[in-house]
This record gives sequence, structure tokens and C-alpha cells, in this order.
Amino acid sequence: MIMKTIPSTPLILKRAGLGLLALCAAVLTGCGGGGGEGAGLTVGFAQAGAESAWRRAETASIKDEAGKRGVNLRFSDAQGKQENQIAAVRDFIAQGVDAIILAPIVETGWDDVLGEAKDAGIPVVLVDRGVDVGDDSIYATLIASDFVAEGKMAGEWLFKKSGGKARIIELEGTPGAAPAIDRKKGFDDVIGQHAGMEIIASQSGDFNIEKGKEVMEALLAKHAGEVTVVYAHNDDMALGAIQALEAAGKKPGEEVIVISIDGGKAALTALVEGKMNCVVECLPLLGPNAFDAVETIRAGGTLPKWQKVDDQLFDADNTDAAFAENRPY
Ligand code: AHR
Repeated sequence: MIMKTIPSTPLILKRAGLGLLALCAAVLTGCGGGGGEGAGLTVGFAQAGAESAWRRAETASIKDEAGKRGVNLRFSDAQGKQENQIAAVRDFIAQGVDAIILAPIVETGWDDVLGEAKDAGIPVVLVDRGVDVGDDSIYATLIASDFVAEGKMAGEWLFKKSGGKARIIELEGTPGAAPAIDRKKGFDDVIGQHAGMEIIASQSGDFNIEKGKEVMEALLAKHAGEVTVVYAHNDDMALGAIQALEAAGKKPGEEVIVISIDGGKAALTALVEGKMNCVVECLPLLGPNAFDAVETIRAGGTLPKWQKVDDQLFDADNTDAAFAENRPY
């Protein structure tokens, strides 16, 4: 698969800080003024839902960027249901939009509807999650993090931190979603290599805080005496697990190591407060990249099949209160 790498937050922010030069570039490419190449385009954005702070930040990024570029954005929130999302894509096709941005809730089940978009000559830009399809020419490009690598980063950090001894509760994301499948794979592969590390329970918390808390409460009822680590596939479930641990009289971050993925402000604040121990980043601010892709396709350019977003890891050694406070999502 051909890949291009999109830098992680600090680099993006550094670039954002280039001042006049960046401002001129933005005006020239239409990124800042609403009058550039995207102006007048109609783009449909089929979002998966609003289950997490991460996803709400992704939606805001795409809406903001559409506004900046003068794109007429049609937005649909599938509320966590693939059938709603498929119906939204079909609606966009029927409306004859210029392009579709899709954040697919699960990996499978997209062949037919994306084939219909291709037949109608409407390019599809996938953001954040990949799809498992027979013919990858039915979408133009995927802009997303490497979720297997994120899980692996979390596992390797834990191995070093724990000295290879851990009894782990894993809170998985939405069943069938690319980040749930891949973050489990990356993490479990590392844990499987070390005899002293064991996943004692693994269950879905559906990427949201309430379910994360509820599942953690149920798992603590069985495993409170032995759990030493919680690995959550996103920040929201980790924050829910912290609430459950505290309610059970345990000190998250001290008696139980807590690891999450996303790197939003609430998780980094919990890290600074000592309630979380490791946060792997996954960037949701994909609006600029998504509309760059749409404009490149419209201009007849080609794109790599996967534009990989680079992520980094945060722990007590590299994160302070000011950094958490200024986190943009
Ligand atoms: O696909 C990205 C994941 O989906 C984020 O980690 C999670 O927070 C979101 O709901």
C-alpha cells in the first residue's frame, strides 16, 4: 500500500505557528478565505456518530474547514448505526454531491454503496477508519492513523513500565470498527510475547464514557483483587474506568496503571493529575487533510491509498499541565 505520512500534533502546531508565511499560503490555496479551489463545491460528510470527544473534535474540524474554504457541506450523523451511514451515503449520491467524506463505523459492508458512488463518478475520501473491501478503487484515499502501531506503542510502554508483570483488563472499542480490531491486535501481540503479562478480561465499552464505566464496574466485581492495568482503546472509556476504579476504592494511576488512546485534553489532564499513566495520541483534526484530498482529486491529481497520520506517546516524562491545557481537542 502506498503511504504518505501526516505529522503528529506538535509539528502541525509548529507549522500553524509559521505566521505570515503560512497565512499567505493559506490565502493562496484558499484555506483561509472561503474563496479558494473548494469554494462552491458541495461535499457530503457521513459521520459515524458522536460517541467520543475525539469524534466530536473530528466533526468540528471538518465543519470548520468546510466553512473556511467556502464548501457547501451536507452533514449526516449515523448515530452509531451502519445502516444509517449507508443510507446517508446513498442520499449524497442521489443529491449528486461533488465528493463524499466518510468515517466508516465498521470495516465491512461497504462494497455495494461505495461501488455505487464510484459508478456515479463521486469520489469518496475515507477519514479516520479504513474499510475491508474487495476492490480498493471504490474509494480515493484513506486519511488515518496506524491503529496497530498505536496498540503496539501502548503494549511496549507497559512492558517497560511494569517490568513484564501485568494482569490487564482491556476495554475494547465498537465491535467491527477498525480501531477496535487493530488496537487490540497491536497491543495483544506485544503482551503475548511476555509470559508474565496476561489479559484477564477483554470487553467492549463501545468507545464511550458511560459504557466504559459500566463495563469496568462489572469487570471489577470479578477481578478487583487481581487487576493491575486497564488498557482502554480510547480516552473516553479510560475516563469511565477511572470513575469505576475510584468508586471501588482503588487509586487509578497508582494501584492500577491506566492506558488510553486518543490524547484529548481530558485524558492528558488525568495524566498530569496522576490518574492516567500513558496516553497514545490519535489525531482527529483531519478537516484540512480531507479537503486537500477532495481538491487534489477534483484537480485530477492522484493520492496515496493511505495517508498515514503520525502519532506519539504521552506519559509523565513528557507532559505537563500547560501542554494538557492547550491541547486543541
Ligand atoms: O476511529 C477513531 C476512534 O473512534 C477514536 O479513538 C475514538 O475515540 C473514536 O470514537
